[in-house]
Amino acid sequence: MIEMSQEWYDNRHEYAKNWNEKTGGKVVGFILGDASGGEYGVPNTVGWIDTIGVHPGYQKKGIARALLMEMVDNLKKVGVDTIYTFVNWRDWGLLQFFRAMGFQRGDMINLELKI
Ligand SMILES: CC(C)(COP(=O)(O)OP(=O)(O)OC[C@H]1O[C@@H](n2cnc3c(N)ncnc32)[C@H](O)[C@@H]1OP(=O)(O)O)[C@@H](O)C(=O)NCCC(=O)NCCS
Repeated sequence: MIEMSQEWYDNRHEYAKNWNEKTGGKVVGFILGDASGGEYGVPNTVGWIDTIGVHPGYQKKGIARALLMEMVDNLKKVGVDTIYTFVNWRDWGLLQFFRAMGFQRGDMINLELKI
């Protein structure tokens, strides 16, 4: 279990206050991800972003950025040093978002077989 300091709680309190100001206390976005368990020959220092989304009425306010930064902080704490995600190449908005967050094309390639 990770020990959280008073500073961590104070920062989170401030963060929640800012968040409330931006959203009126509503849930307007989500992010799901995890740290790899070393599957598929991928080292366990790898994390994944499975999905991220912000309600259309609340986009372009820095909410996805805040969600991603929180996820990055949490993944770092469990030893992750590289994060992967899959994006549909036609989803220009999402690609632009990840690019703005510093993501680049990685070494993995996506293979599929229709059955
Ligand atoms: C992509 C998405 C998550 C961005 O959410 P957001 O809260 O609007 O993003 P932010 O305001 O935090 O943007 C952070 C940066 O990303 C970039 N960005 C975000 N959306 C962008 C877009 N559509 N086009 C270009 N750049 C974009 C901007 O550079 C922005 O930085 P800036 O505010 O300094 O200009 C949101 O548009 C969304 O939910 N899209 C649908 C995603 C989806 O289909 N998810 C399910 C499958 S994973």
